[in-house]
Amino acid sequence: MLRVRARRSVITLFDQCSVLVFHTAAVVALIHSCTGQSEVVGPLQPVVALIGDDIILPCHLDPVMDAFDMTLEWARPDLDPRFVLVWRDGVDLESKKHPLYNNRTSLFTNELQSGNISLKISKVKQSDGGTYIYTNVLCSCC
Ligand SMILES: *[C@@H]1O[C@H](CO)[C@@H](O)[C@H](O)[C@H]1NC(C)=O
Ligand SMILES: *[C@@H]1O[C@H](CO)[C@@H](O)[C@H](O)[C@H]1NC(C)=O
Repeated sequence: MLRVRARRSVITLFDQCSVLVFHTAAVVALIHSCTGQSEVVGPLQPVVALIGDDIILPCHLDPVMDAFDMTLEWARPDLDPRFVLVWRDGVDLESKKHPLYNNRTSLFTNELQSGNISLKISKVKQSDGGTYIYTNVLCSCC
């Protein structure tokens, strides 16, 4: 009989940073709120963008930590697959993204070292409405 020794190897470093999106006519309003530990910080005031705009969902680690080598996920729980952006091993994994976000989301790669994990969404669409969750995952065994 094969014995499998399982060990929890994935821990969540930080709590979620949520972004709520509200529609009004052609305007998308984004309200950010961060809960939990102080490491992930988003703005309290809403960000408003017109459809077609490029927007930034600001988020940073406080105190500053180098995020370049971390695994970072921006996701929308209402989508399947839920990923809006997955950053792993220094690469933006385009193939993991929900098709809605192909080639439309990015991080500021030069700023990751200073803990800036803001998400950029290009050419905002009506369908971008939803809740955006930021998760920072440390895999201790890989
Ligand atoms: C995304 O960009 C790549 C490279 O420019 C391209 O090959 C691919 O077709 C694009 N995907 C979409 C969905 O536009
Ligand atoms: C993160 O980078 C973006 C793009 O350069 C910038 O707009 C934003 O102010 C930066 N945030 C912080 C906390 O430095």
